[in-house]
Amino acid sequence: MSILPPQRDRFDLPRDLCYLNAAYMTPFPAAFSRIAEEALAGHLRPWEVTPADFFRASERVRSLAARILDSEADAVALVPAVSYAVATAARNLPLAKGEIILTLAEEFPSNYYGWQRLAAEREAELLLLDGPPERDWTAAVLEAIEHHGARIRLVAIPHVHWSSGVMLDLGAIRAATHEVGAALFLDLTQSLGALPVSMREIDPDFAVAAGYKWLFGPYALGYLHVAARWRDGRPLEENWIARAGSEDFSRLVHYADDYQPGARRFDMGERSNFLLMPFAEAGLGLVLEWGVEAIARSLAVLNTRLVAMLEEAGFVATPADRRSPHLMAVRHPAIPAQTIARHWHDAGIRVSVRGSWIRIAPHLWVDAADEDRLAAAIAALEQVAS
Ligand SMILES: Cc1ncc(COP(=O)(O)O)c(C=O)c1O
Repeated sequence: MSILPPQRDRFDLPRDLCYLNAAYMTPFPAAFSRIAEEALAGHLRPWEVTPADFFRASERVRSLAARILDSEADAVALVPAVSYAVATAARNLPLAKGEIILTLAEEFPSNYYGWQRLAAEREAELLLLDGPPERDWTAAVLEAIEHHGARIRLVAIPHVHWSSGVMLDLGAIRAATHEVGAALFLDLTQSLGALPVSMREIDPDFAVAAGYKWLFGPYALGYLHVAARWRDGRPLEENWIARAGSEDFSRLVHYADDYQPGARRFDMGERSNFLLMPFAEAGLGLVLEWGVEAIARSLAVLNTRLVAMLEEAGFVATPADRRSPHLMAVRHPAIPAQTIARHWHDAGIRVSVRGSWIRIAPHLWVDAADEDRLAAAIAALEQVAS
């Protein structure tokens, strides 16, 4: 099976920088600078913007996102943030007094606060499974569903835990939620674009991914998959473009009761965003050009080499049986994560510290020289430890 060669020449990365932080934000390829012109066109020459332009680019982006989600364009809403998707789902999912929403310890806050508020409003319970973040989350979720049974109405989880890189078995968890009739909300921000996933197969109720990490998109644009059974739900806001017939600008005040088809009613207001759309389209196109399977395979090979190098030097990594192919965490038994990150920063290596772990998230721009830089920085730590 083919492995993608390093793609460093497509990026404008300084040679003395080894960027292992795709989970924070991915750089745009250098060629995206040309897209800036297209993105500005609407604002430089608004008289050239036609009513159809309010729909065209967003529909292309919706379709591309649907391909990566293995979903359909009708299922995808354009949202500004994961928190917006959580609020949308919270507005529509049933939850009664005494019922349970289940999530993980140290889950990303945007997949926590919205549920916390919902649980408080409905006198329900938000149950956080105990950490540590590197634990076997699949087993923990399955156990909790078995234990609490039909009291669990919603399981709100990621595909990959954002700080440890532990991967969850979504198929097994979906089967368990079906057994007790619970809904499933997925935060795919740290996986979509780097790890194959299929909405057709998993059939979550809602699933969202912010676009600026593994999807090479701009900040403030993400993708929300909505299962067909929720597509007649209530959106967070009532924007004009989400209503039936909004293509005809001369009839906008012939107020319509109906919405645009599919999940479009859940789009954020001003979703046509002329500045962001061209970048979003290019980012999703890049991921599809490489192919998610090939990205996952290539990053798995790279990360296997990096983890071998780190374990050789005494680091402990996310357990191999649950490690995602693209994202992992390591820690050193003797040197605090913050200290290591500071030393590595000085050596031109960029990672994130999350709790006691150093999160390592390379992408296809990483090449042999980057691996050498990391190897040298790991070797230099011996002096810190001694
Ligand atoms: C797992 C996860 N979800 C969501 C986000 C971003 O949330 P939001 O789009 O609400 O700002 C991040 C950002 O780091 C993340 O890692």
